[in-house]
Amino acid sequence: MSAFKGNVLVAGATGRTGEWVVKRLQAHGIAFRLFVRSGEKAIRVFGPEIIDRLTIGSVEHPAEIRAAVRNASAVISAIGGNVTDPAAPPPSAIDRDGIINLATIAKAENVRHFILVSSLSVTKPDHPLNKYGRILSMKLEAENEIRRLFSEPGYAYTILRPGGLLDGPPLQHNLRFETGDTITTGVIQRSDVAEVSVISLFTPEAHNLTFELIETEAVSLTSLVPFFRQIHS
Ligand SMILES: NC(=O)c1ccc[n+]([C@@H]2O[C@H](COP(=O)([O-])OP(=O)(O)OC[C@H]3O[C@@H](n4cnc5c(N)ncnc54)[C@H](OP(=O)(O)O)[C@@H]3O)[C@@H](O)[C@H]2O)c1
Repeated sequence: MSAFKGNVLVAGATGRTGEWVVKRLQAHGIAFRLFVRSGEKAIRVFGPEIIDRLTIGSVEHPAEIRAAVRNASAVISAIGGNVTDPAAPPPSAIDRDGIINLATIAKAENVRHFILVSSLSVTKPDHPLNKYGRILSMKLEAENEIRRLFSEPGYAYTILRPGGLLDGPPLQHNLRFETGDTITTGVIQRSDVAEVSVISLFTPEAHNLTFELIETEAVSLTSLVPFFRQIHS
């Protein structure tokens, strides 16, 4: 029996964290759909059986977002613009405006819980990463709008601010959760970020929470839920 009964839209599902979000939703038996830019890439990543779950589009295009969020009860976004490609739209267009489009339309379509993968250090305007299109500040502006939209009664937000992302398996490290953007450095597996985003759907302590997360020592785990206690203790 799954711990969450609704239907989850995964935005950025063909990205490296997004793929893990899908895998972890499957592991928890939670129903999902995917919002992706490329159906071909989605089929390459997930196989042809994924085709019925796809909505193709970009967060730059409201009509495509509207089609994607319809009937979703929650959205998990692992979208990120590509700052290393000069031909790609800048962080202002994707990490800020695109995410704000997604959150605004999701709320209008009655999505109840918006879960965003953001980043450590978004509140630090002088951080070196801000040289790239002020990416961290753009992410903070999107976060602020999500907090505003989804803090209304009956709705919820969860904003994850991970450290540097790695590509190992999930549930193999203890995690450190903090609030206030005080952690200056650290890393975490994309698979664990994905798992934390998925358990946020059914973990009350994750609702209306913005928090930083990095990994600590290697250890084999069965659940990441207990780490939320670090924040509420
Ligand atoms: N790299 C790090 O160390 C680090 C650290 C902290 C936080 N973060 C943040 O964590 C998040 C996940 O990172 P990641 O490395 O897993 O990302 P990633 O592999 O680069 O994937 C990004 C996803 O965003 C999608 N996307 C980009 N533009 C889009 C648009 N206009 N409309 C719809 N989807 C769009 C991409 O689509 P395609 O699949 O079609 O390309 C891709 O699926 C990002 O927000 C990133 O900034 C990264």
